[in-house]
Amino acid sequence: MSDHHYILAKIDRIIKSDENNWEVRLKDICQVLRDSIPYFNWVGFYFANHQTKMLHLKAFAGIPTDHTEIPFGKGICGQVALSNKNFVVPNVHDQDNYIACDINVKSELVVPLFVDGINVGQIDIDSNALDPFDNNDALLLEKVNQKVAHYIPNIFYTLA
Ligand code: SME
Repeated sequence: MSDHHYILAKIDRIIKSDENNWEVRLKDICQVLRDSIPYFNWVGFYFANHQTKMLHLKAFAGIPTDHTEIPFGKGICGQVALSNKNFVVPNVHDQDNYIACDINVKSELVVPLFVDGINVGQIDIDSNALDPFDNNDALLLEKVNQKVAHYIPNIFYTLA
């Protein structure tokens, strides 16, 4: 948990760094998370368009993915767009409704991001390890999302 304190302090500085635009800040946050937790192999932020019911990838760290747009309901990310709840997938091969981005990925954790109580996006973590996530990971990502939610400009998402 003390590690979390250090990670969150770094992320706080990124969020408040006025010299970078928000695309860069989100990317830097992804990079800090990927560099800090060994089993976070891919980290990305998707944001929602509630009118078209689509998620759009706005920043990531890790290998590029083809899945930059995901319909609500599709895959782990799309399910979280509808459920408004954290989704921990210890083994992606056990999931029918899963979108594979990289054959090396074995597990996934998605945590929704709320602005004024509305699920406007999410942070998505892919891991090449089987069942690596614990409650502390979800807690860390919830805190990151709360910080981002507080400052992110509303051009990143579209409400209904
Ligand atoms: N696996 C995700 C798709 C996004 S990639 O992990 C980058 C899903 O099933 O929604």
